[in-house]
Amino acid sequence: MEQTKRRIAILGSTGSIGQQALEVIEKHRDLFEIELLTANNNSSLLIEQAKKFLPNNVVICNHDLYQEVQKELNPLFIKVFAGLESAGDLAGGDNVDIVLSSIVGFSGLAPTIKAMKKGKVIALANKETLVAAGSIISNLSREYNSPIIPVDSEHSAIFQCLQGEKASIEKLLLTASGGPFRELDICKFKDITKADALKHPNWNMGNKVTIDSSTMMNKGLEVIEAAWLFNIPIDKIEVIVHPESIIHSMVQFSDGSVKAQLSYPDMRIPIQYALTYPHRINLNSKRLDFYELGQLNFYKPDTNKFPALSIAYDSFKRGGNTTCAMNGANEIAVDLFLKEKIKLTQIPIIIEKTLEKFTFISNPTLEDIYNTDKEAKQIAKQVIKN
Ligand SMILES: NC(=O)c1ccc[n+]([C@@H]2O[C@H](COP(=O)([O-])OP(=O)(O)OC[C@H]3O[C@@H](n4cnc5c(N)ncnc54)[C@H](OP(=O)(O)O)[C@@H]3O)[C@@H](O)[C@H]2O)c1
Repeated sequence: MEQTKRRIAILGSTGSIGQQALEVIEKHRDLFEIELLTANNNSSLLIEQAKKFLPNNVVICNHDLYQEVQKELNPLFIKVFAGLESAGDLAGGDNVDIVLSSIVGFSGLAPTIKAMKKGKVIALANKETLVAAGSIISNLSREYNSPIIPVDSEHSAIFQCLQGEKASIEKLLLTASGGPFRELDICKFKDITKADALKHPNWNMGNKVTIDSSTMMNKGLEVIEAAWLFNIPIDKIEVIVHPESIIHSMVQFSDGSVKAQLSYPDMRIPIQYALTYPHRINLNSKRLDFYELGQLNFYKPDTNKFPALSIAYDSFKRGGNTTCAMNGANEIAVDLFLKEKIKLTQIPIIIEKTLEKFTFISNPTLEDIYNTDKEAKQIAKQVIKN
């Protein structure tokens, strides 16, 4: 890698992705410098991280926690700001080379856009950004020369498979663990509890993405993310259930060759690759033992059990602001499921009902996207009330 350190801004440093990114960076202090850390509510972890990594700037998005963070970090000459607006402004600052976009949900969109408009390299974990505003984000990436390096393990796998390739892609094979309910009989889905849904078989992630994995909406979001990232028709993206999560995704080329990227599930690998790209550096990840693995399994996804996957394909095909509305409705439904106000099986129903009612816009502006998110969230809440 270069002689100079890469200066990193982490949007959402207290989350699962943010914390693993800091783990990677801690092991390679000679290669990276932390410029910005941000959190929403977890002020104590943010303070702890800032004391360890001594960034120039810290943002606590929840204004109520500003005083507490400021009091702790001011003596260390760390500048403290409040609000999501500041997070975006500072991520676009002159001292930043790479922005890790790892806030969860639609809230990640605005700061990511601000950083893109300053031409930053975006290491993208926040898939909702591309789901809600894929066309706008793709245009911004070109216009402002702001490259997007995927962090999601599946998209990182595809990105890695494409390195050095000039051939056209025939098909993307996006793998899915199938989540905790892959083998559960459909008639038992109504009894699923929050605790059941938060037990992902292979990955330890934030709550929202874990629930999305249990409904397979996560895979739906990822199909849309892949379509935008790799500029490929959605019908050329096939989801394959692969319960072991060893193959993180594959690319099929026009000569029939298929390339895959494999490892035991460990998000530090795609995070590190995004931060060091185009280089690879050491990581103490567990090495694959094929004899221990014995066999890998592959199944077709069951869209009767997991209708969210079909909703995602259909929403993308409908185009315009549909996937933004789908995402907004899903965020509300997941939040209410986590608050134990609705059943898991109601999530796709709420999304479908929202999609029947939102205002369709075929070529949405960014303002339309913000309005669509608001409208879809209101409709979803109304659907639940009724
Ligand atoms: N976790 C994974 O393994 C994984 C894998 C692939 C992709 N992803 C994607 O990466 C993103 C982050 O996932 P995660 O699992 O790391 O989520 P997470 O553990 O829930 O962390 C979310 C982060 O965003 C911050 N945040 C939440 N709401 C915010 C708001 N309104 N304004 C500002 N900051 C806010 C949180 O701050 P506080 O902690 O202070 O609340 C936290 O730092 C998601 O889009 C997810 O789909 C995650």
